[in-house]
Amino acid sequence: VFVESADRREAVKSSFVRANAKALESYYGEKRAQYVRLKLEGLEDAPVHLAVFADEATQAGSGLGRKTMPHTLQYSVVAAIQTLWLAARAEGLGVGWISILEPKIVRRMLDVPDTWTLVAYLCIGRPVEEHLDPELDRHHWQERLGVERLIFTR
Ligand SMILES: Cc1cc2nc3c(=O)[nH]c(=O)nc-3n(C[C@H](O)[C@H](O)[C@H](O)COP(=O)(O)O)c2cc1C
Repeated sequence: VFVESADRREAVKSSFVRANAKALESYYGEKRAQYVRLKLEGLEDAPVHLAVFADEATQAGSGLGRKTMPHTLQYSVVAAIQTLWLAARAEGLGVGWISILEPKIVRRMLDVPDTWTLVAYLCIGRPVEEHLDPELDRHHWQERLGVERLIFTR
């Protein structure tokens, strides 16, 4: 769903502000100070807002694979988002995924069926900065994990 109406964009921003204030409550000390310094949304800057949903009631695929792994439905949506993300980067565009939102409120506000689950709210636009290192690493929120800690052989 492309979110174009100014009222709805404002309502999404309000949802972010509420969700972000709530998230902040769970951090203390230095982590809290770091959290405050992070820029966690580009809602006012991004020209394109795309809310991406999974239709939990879809008949597409006739349930293949979902009987054993129901989450594959949402995984497929995430895979599509990743493809969009790579295509956007190849065109010089930036994508921000905003998960600090109230998913049910956003869903209701966008007037979509109850069976749709919000998977991502994406902000797409021209980046004002380009970096090689990940932002959260740069801001000392999370250091990169060595790949040797993530790959196993059995
Ligand atoms: C599932 C998911 C959720 C994310 N949620 C947020 C978010 O709420 N706020 C935010 O600033 N970045 C969020 N991000 C990260 C950014 O959208 C994006 O990955 C990052 O800004 C890209 O820059 P980097 O390569 O420097 O990390 C999320 C990323 C993923 C994959």
